[in-house]
Amino acid sequence: MAIKNDIMPRGPLQTDHDINWRWPCRGLSDRFAWAVCQSTKFAADRFFQKCYGSRAVMLETIAAMPGMVGSTFNRLSDIRDTVTGRPHDHSRSDTLYEESKNELMHLKTFIEITQPSMAEKALIFGAQAMFFLTFSALYITSRKTAHRLVGFIEEEAVNSYTSYLREIDERYMPNPDAPEIAKKYWGLPQDATLRDVVIAIRADEMEHRDVNHRIATELSIR
Ligand SMILES: [Fe+2]
Ligand SMILES: [Fe+2]
Repeated sequence: MAIKNDIMPRGPLQTDHDINWRWPCRGLSDRFAWAVCQSTKFAADRFFQKCYGSRAVMLETIAAMPGMVGSTFNRLSDIRDTVTGRPHDHSRSDTLYEESKNELMHLKTFIEITQPSMAEKALIFGAQAMFFLTFSALYITSRKTAHRLVGFIEEEAVNSYTSYLREIDERYMPNPDAPEIAKKYWGLPQDATLRDVVIAIRADEMEHRDVNHRIATELSIR
């Protein structure tokens, strides 16, 4: 039986986000999230340096998990709150599930562009297991800190894709044709290139950044 693998188009590009916007750190929870994000970034910078393709594959492998974990735990809360009659934001689980599906499309796109080596694949599998366990533990301990951490990671993703664009524009990095999967998903023209794909992905990351910081703020004022 053939495997169904239809791509649901993403829709129009989100253009109302501010590229340079950053959440101002407030309180211990924010500072903890920021420190975790910065130490992860430090390790990634040392390891990948200017290998933006490999860096994107690793980033997107990890990025698909917070939405999945958040969606699962929020759905469990939805079920409990439905049973007990407690008011709850039932849309959060759907929003986070959509985010994880969107991140998976980022990963599928970069796998088409960058063929990871066996060593990189092994690293990705290890990173996935480690991040899934630690992020789930953080989500159980403090949802607010977990969403703030994702918000900070997304800020760095926006920065990373801006650097990637600069490298393409200055011709330090190649600008091949966009993969078909990306053209279909983001509704890009037939002559679209990697540059158009990076712009589309960066717009998605800005949306994830804003959504996760908003959820963290909502959780902190409850
Ligand atoms: Fe992403
Ligand atoms: Fe993201």
